[in-house]
Amino acid sequence: MKTVELMAIGPAPEVVHCIEVEEPGMPGAGEIIVELTACSINPADLMIFEGNYASKPDTPCPIGIEGAGTVTAVGDGVTLVGVGDKVMSLYRANWSQRLRLKETEVVRLPDEIDLEQAAMLKVNAATALLMLEKYVALKPGDWVIQDAANSGVGKNLIRLAQVKGYKTINVVRRAELIAPLTAMGGDVVLVDGEDLAERVNEATGGSKAKLAIDCVSGSITMRLADCLADGSIVINYGLLTDDPCMLRPDQIFFRDIKLMGFWLAKMMPTMAFEEIVAMYQELAARVVDGTLYVTVEASYPLERIEEAVAHAGRYKRDGKILLRPNG
Ligand SMILES: NC(=O)c1ccc[n+]([C@@H]2O[C@H](COP(=O)([O-])OP(=O)(O)OC[C@H]3O[C@@H](n4cnc5c(N)ncnc54)[C@H](OP(=O)(O)O)[C@@H]3O)[C@@H](O)[C@H]2O)c1
Repeated sequence: MKTVELMAIGPAPEVVHCIEVEEPGMPGAGEIIVELTACSINPADLMIFEGNYASKPDTPCPIGIEGAGTVTAVGDGVTLVGVGDKVMSLYRANWSQRLRLKETEVVRLPDEIDLEQAAMLKVNAATALLMLEKYVALKPGDWVIQDAANSGVGKNLIRLAQVKGYKTINVVRRAELIAPLTAMGGDVVLVDGEDLAERVNEATGGSKAKLAIDCVSGSITMRLADCLADGSIVINYGLLTDDPCMLRPDQIFFRDIKLMGFWLAKMMPTMAFEEIVAMYQELAARVVDGTLYVTVEASYPLERIEEAVAHAGRYKRDGKILLRPNG
């Protein structure tokens, strides 16, 4: 069967390739076999390949943070899933045709779910939900401001905020994103600029946001903070630029603005397995009812992994890049 291997740390498209490996064999006690239908390519995957992530893997190694598929075999004692169930993987090396996993390394999903959408739940949808829920006790009507609002996380955040009754201010770097993000439920969508706070103030009728969510860093962190109520926090969660997050002293000590970080890989180990399953089942239900939907710009077979990875690294995409390991 086919799998994707990271050969070495280096420029993303040059260090990944598709290889033939042995089938995973029969599942042992507590194990299952999953046939992968879709795997998404995330910025974090590219950062891992290039050595820019929190830790560097020992290469060569299997890779791919996300994947979703169908259970094709179960071992003795498996009770959480059965043959034919749709599942998303909690495992961190998923870009393969089939995987042998522990039953606790997957979350069972509803039969009606689209597995392409399911392959984008683990990282981005959970990140959006946890940032909305774990830091500030938001109430319906409260404003949240975010940058890179057209990212996978950003789009999930717009929809999750909308169902919870929070209003979103969405900052992007291209004017052509205003119409689609407004159509998907963004209350305010603005292109970044020096006068961002004034335009936000006008759009919200003077209401200040209770939470800012930043994955761009640099001076935009400061502009988001200018839109916050005193005592609020900015959560930084991304590495879209290498710039340091900037806050001015007046924001920090006159207005008590705080900067915090979110990393899903650190948050998940603090959550019980049951809480993780409940979270993903809530997100999966949101996919099924149409609340969560992320556009896909292109899908590739594993054999074209170099092209797929190069595409995922491109500017001005209209959606995520997926792998379809089994066609
Ligand atoms: N901390 C965590 O646990 C965690 C979890 C999930 C994601 N993340 C991070 O969140 C970020 C977004 O991930 P994603 O998968 O949602 O991304 P994505 O869907 O691949 O989209 C990234 C978007 O960011 C925009 N962008 C890129 N560079 C930008 C810049 N310098 N200024 C403004 N916008 C920029 C791009 O906009 P254009 O369309 O204009 O090119 C692109 O559409 C990444 O940094 C990722 O590593 C972190």
